[in-house]
Amino acid sequence: MRIVVLTGAGISAESGLRTFRAEDGLWEDHHVEDVATPQAYARDPVLVHRFYNARRSAVAAAQPNAAHRALADLAQEHDLTLVTQNVDDLHERGGSPSVIHMHGEVNRALCAACDHRWPSPMEIDVNTPCPSCGRKTARPDIVWFGEMPYHMDQISAELERADLFAAIGTSGNVYPAAGFVQLARQYNAHCVELNLDRSSVSRDFHEHITGPATKIVPDWVLGL
Ligand code: APR
Repeated sequence: MRIVVLTGAGISAESGLRTFRAEDGLWEDHHVEDVATPQAYARDPVLVHRFYNARRSAVAAAQPNAAHRALADLAQEHDLTLVTQNVDDLHERGGSPSVIHMHGEVNRALCAACDHRWPSPMEIDVNTPCPSCGRKTARPDIVWFGEMPYHMDQISAELERADLFAAIGTSGNVYPAAGFVQLARQYNAHCVELNLDRSSVSRDFHEHITGPATKIVPDWVLGL
């Protein structure tokens, strides 16, 4: 069976990493447009670096949970394509052999001037030089609002051949990821949503499994 799994912030919530759409509309006390857009970085790089340095240390302190580990097990049994919107490395540390990070990775840096990418130091600041061009234009290698997600051609191709598509812990508010269910359906995949609550795109799924990821994901994997 060919399976595509899409994960979002909800799978890492029980590892202690906060999701994006808290009830107050803020993300770690910031408006998203103040920290997660190219305009924010141009306007106030000190704030943006401070914000992502804090995210990087929170990720380093977090541990993968039973849901991350269950998806690593799933890859042993099936032809799995694991796509995540998360910028943490908990899938990798949970044992997943291959992870497509469509929104980038907090542990990688990107040069805003020459597009060179490299493993990020724990702290980036406005004086961090690009190891390739030498300019002080390092930024986190994260896809911000208004930027193009990574690996879209590969993801679309995998969705077209999937027998089963599962979305885990994602609110369905951010496209193109929120549209993957429609694409998978169009190509006749069975579509299942695993989430704490109904999401914005719940109606597009054939099946819903509701509950905390550390419970429902291992159970779902065992039942496949
Ligand atoms: N188990 C399962 N689901 C959970 C849990 C849990 N323990 N805790 C929260 N959830 C669910 C919430 O109900 C919500 O539907 O996870 C979802 C998290 O939604 P968001 O915070 O919107 O995160 P996500 O969907 O990953 O956001 C997508 O938005 O800000 C951008 O680029 C950022 O990748 C991110 C994208």
